Amino acid sequence: MHGISDSEKLHTISDYYSASQLRADRWSALRETAESLDQGGSEKDRDRARQLLQALAPIEVYFAFPGGSAFDYLRRLLDHGNFGDFSTAVRRVSRALTSGAYRRRSIPLIADETEGDEFEDEAAQSHEARALGRPYFEVMIVDNVNEHQERFLQSSLQRMRRSEDQFIYETVVVPSVEDALIGVLFNQNVQAVIVRPGLSLKSKNETNVLGRYISLYGEGADLDALSPSEYGPETCRRIGMLRPELDAYLITDRSAEDIAGLDLGLCRRVFYNQEDFLELHLNILRGVQRRYKTPFFTALKEYSKQPTGVFHAMPISRGKSISRSHWIQDMGAFYGSNIFMAETSATSGGLDSLLEPKGPIKEAQEAAARAFGSKQTFFATNGTSTCNKIVVQALVRPGDIVLVDRDCHKSHHYGMVLAGASVVYMDSYPLHDYSMYGAVPIREIKHKLLALRAEGKLDRVRMVLLTNCTFDGIVYNVQRVMQECLAIKKDLVFLWDEAWFGYARFAPNTRVRTAMRSANILREEFRTTEHTEAYAAQQKELEGKGDDAWLDTRLIAPPDARVRVYATQSTHKTLTALRQGSMIHVNDQQFKGAVEEAFHEAYMTHTSTSPNYQIIASLDVGRRQVEIEGYEFVQRQVESAMAIRRAVTTHPLLKKYFRLVTAGDMIPEQYRESGMTSYFDPDQGWADVWDCWAKDEFVLDATRITLHVGATGWDGDTFKTKILMDKYGIQINKTSRNTVLFMTNIGTTRSSVAYLIEVLVEIAKELDDLMDDASKMEKRAFEKRVRNLSEHVPPLPDFSRFHDAFRCEKGTEAGDIRTAFFLSYDEDNCDYVEPDKDMLDRLETGEEMVSATFVIPYPPGFPILVPGQVISPEILKFMQELDVSEIHGFRADLGLRIFTEDALKTIKKS
Ligand SMILES: Cc1ncc(COP(=O)(O)O)c(C=O)c1O
Repeated sequence: MHGISDSEKLHTISDYYSASQLRADRWSALRETAESLDQGGSEKDRDRARQLLQALAPIEVYFAFPGGSAFDYLRRLLDHGNFGDFSTAVRRVSRALTSGAYRRRSIPLIADETEGDEFEDEAAQSHEARALGRPYFEVMIVDNVNEHQERFLQSSLQRMRRSEDQFIYETVVVPSVEDALIGVLFNQNVQAVIVRPGLSLKSKNETNVLGRYISLYGEGADLDALSPSEYGPETCRRIGMLRPELDAYLITDRSAEDIAGLDLGLCRRVFYNQEDFLELHLNILRGVQRRYKTPFFTALKEYSKQPTGVFHAMPISRGKSISRSHWIQDMGAFYGSNIFMAETSATSGGLDSLLEPKGPIKEAQEAAARAFGSKQTFFATNGTSTCNKIVVQALVRPGDIVLVDRDCHKSHHYGMVLAGASVVYMDSYPLHDYSMYGAVPIREIKHKLLALRAEGKLDRVRMVLLTNCTFDGIVYNVQRVMQECLAIKKDLVFLWDEAWFGYARFAPNTRVRTAMRSANILREEFRTTEHTEAYAAQQKELEGKGDDAWLDTRLIAPPDARVRVYATQSTHKTLTALRQGSMIHVNDQQFKGAVEEAFHEAYMTHTSTSPNYQIIASLDVGRRQVEIEGYEFVQRQVESAMAIRRAVTTHPLLKKYFRLVTAGDMIPEQYRESGMTSYFDPDQGWADVWDCWAKDEFVLDATRITLHVGATGWDGDTFKTKILMDKYGIQINKTSRNTVLFMTNIGTTRSSVAYLIEVLVEIAKELDDLMDDASKMEKRAFEKRVRNLSEHVPPLPDFSRFHDAFRCEKGTEAGDIRTAFFLSYDEDNCDYVEPDKDMLDRLETGEEMVSATFVIPYPPGFPILVPGQVISPEILKFMQELDVSEIHGFRADLGLRIFTEDALKTIKKS
C-alpha cells in the first residue's frame, strides 16, 4: 500500500503504524529491486538493495525466519554480485513470509534446490488440510551470547524434537532486556520466552524504529536503575505486562529463596540447570498446549463421533431429520454434516451442563477466566443482552439505587425494570454536531454520588453501570472511575458493559482500560502502604471541605475498599464466536460469600435450559485463539483501521467528501490531558498512542472509524443502505445523521481495507461527475442538503427527570422505572398525544406529560424517553427534527403514549 517502490525514499516507521507492516513492505520492495537487478539492473538498484537489507537488519533480529544466517547469506550474494541467486532467495523469503509457508516447512534459499517457490498461500488451503499440520510458533531466548553459542542453544533445542510433539517451534536469540521487550512486541509468533542469566540490559540496535515502537507501549522507561541480577526477573515481569498470555521460563543461578520473593509476572518455571534442554522443550510445549486445549470443543467433537440413538426431543440431532428428508436437503448440503453430528442436548457422554457445569464447560470457563484476567467467567448463549440482565438481577435488590448512563444499551433499561431498581440516569457529554453521545465524565458520576450522599442515601447506592467502550468507540479511564467512585462509597459494584471491547485484553494499551485488568491493578494497589499513606494524606486535605473540593480532587479510595467488578462481553462481536456467544467476567472480592448463590439464581432465570452447544464450543475455541494469537490479530486489526485513517486524511478526492471524525472531534479538550487530537496527522505522522491511553479521561478506540459523510449530501442511514450496502455490498451497522461508523475486526484484511478505500474513491468520483453536469438549481439543492446535514443538526436532549409519581422518595431524582413500566400495561392508564406544535405549546406553558413507554429512535439507538419520564420541550423538539424512519415505542398513527392524569394520581396516592 505504501510500498517503498512508490518512491525513491526509504519510508520510516513514522510512515507506518506498525513494524510488521514496515517489515512486509520492505521485503516486497527488496523483492522488486532484486528482480530488477537480476534483469540487468543498475548500480542504483544495487545500492537500493543494500539500503533495504540494512533497513531490514534491525527488524530481522527478532524473527526466527529467515534467521540470522540466511540473512547473512543474502548479504553475501549481493556483495558478490550473484544477482540471480539473490533474486531467487529474496523472492522465496518474501513469498514464504506472505504465504506463511515457513510455518509449515523449511524454505530452501539456494537456487538449485529442487523445491521451487510455488508456496501455496496458507489461507487458500482447506480447513481440513490445515488442521492436519502442526501449528508453528517461535521461542525467544534472551541471552547475550556469541554466534557459536547461539547456534549451540538453537540446535540443542532442535535436537529435542520428537515426532509426537504437537507443535513445532523455531528459536530466535536476542541479547538484552530491551531486545526481549521489543521482540515480543514485534514478533507476533513468539509464544514462549526463555530468559537466561547472561542477558544484558540495553539493545545495541540503534534505530528510531525500535525506540518509537517501544515508546508506544511505555515500557522503555526506568530500566537503568536495575542491577544485573534483576535483569532476568524484570524481563519476565515486563513481558507479563505487555503480553500476559506468553509463557516465560527463567533460568537463573540466584538462590531459590531469593527468587521466590520476586514478582516474576508470567513466569511459569524457574530452572537452575542451564543445560537441561529436554525439560525445557517439554515445558515449552506443555505451556502452549495449556492454552491450545479446548475442553468443551474437544468433548463435543468426541461426542459427535459416538454412535448414539436419539430418543429425546431433538430431531435435528445427528442430522437424522435432514438426511431422511426429500425437501430440505439443501440445508444439509449448505451446513455439512458435522454441525448436526455435534448438535445435542446431552449433558452426559463426556459433555456437560451449562446450568450446572462440572466437566468440560467448567474447564472451558476456567480457561476463559485465565485468558481474560477474571476470577470467574461464565458463558452465555443469548448475547450480552442476557448477560447484562443476569448481572443486574444477581446484585440489585428492588429499591437499590443504580447509576446508569442513559444512552446505554436497552438491555440495561429492561434490566432495571426487572430488578425494580431505583434508577439515577447520568448524562454523557453530547456531540451535537454528529448527533451522538460521548460518555459520562467522571465529574458527572461523582456529582451524582455526592448528591446522594448529601441526601443521606449513599447506603442504598448499589451499582454504577457504564458502557466501555461505547458503540462509537469512546473508552473510559476505568481504573480512575472506580478509584474515585470507591472513594465516595467503598463497596460499590461496577458493571462495565464491554459488549464491544472483548478484544481489548489482547493489546497492551487497550488492556489497561479493561474492567478485569483495572480490577486486578486496584486490588494490588489497595494493598500497598504507599496507597494507605496517600489515602490518609488526602483525607486530611479534604477534611471539613465541601463537595466542590471532592469534585475537584482526584480521589483516592480507602485501602479497605472492596473491588467488585463485573464485565459483560459480546465475544461474538469482536472475537471468534458464533452469534450470541457472550461472556460474563467477574472480579468481585465479595463474590464467594455474598453473591454466588444469587448469581446462580439469576443465571438460571435467564439461561435457556436448551443452550446451544455449538455456541459454547465456539466460545471455547475463540478463547484458545486469543490466548495464542490474539495479540497478532488485534495488532493487524488496528493496522487496518490506521490504514483507513491515513487514506481518508491524505487522499485529495476523499478529503473533499469525507471527513474523519477524530479523537479531537469526539472527545472535548478537557478530557484529553495528553493533548492528542488525532491518531494520524498528514504532517506529523502517527501520534504517541501510549501517552493518551495512559493519561486521558477518555480515549478513542482506534479500531473504529467514524466518517462524516454530510458533504456527500446523503444522511448516514441513506449512505449506509443505498450506497454502501446496495451498490457495493459493504456492511456497516451504525450511522448517525451525518456520520457512518466503520468497525474493523480481527478478520479485517489488507485487501478489504483496500476495497473500502477504492469504493470511497469511486463514490467521490461519481459525486464529482454529478456536480460537473448539474444545473444551477441542482447544485443549489445539493448545497442545501449538505448544509442541512452538517449545520442544522438538532441538539441532543438531556435526561429530563422522573415524574414525582415515580420518584422513589421525595427529594431524590432516583426513579422507579418498574412501576411506570407496568402501569402502562393497563390501557386505561394511557393516552396518546401527537408530537406536534400544539403539544410543544402545551409543554412550553408548563403542562406535564409523562411517557408511558421507552421511545428509542434508531439511529441513534438510545431511549430519549423511558417509562415515567417527564417529556421536556427539548425532547419533543429533538423528536420533531429527527428524520429517521424507525422510532421504537412510537406509533406514527397514534402519537406518543403518555400516562393519563388519573393514572398518575393513583400512583401518588398509593
Ligand atoms: C453496548 C451494548 N451492550 C450490549 C449489547 C447487546 O449485546 P448482544 O447483541 O450480544 O446481546 C449491545 C448490542 O449492540 C451493545 O451495543
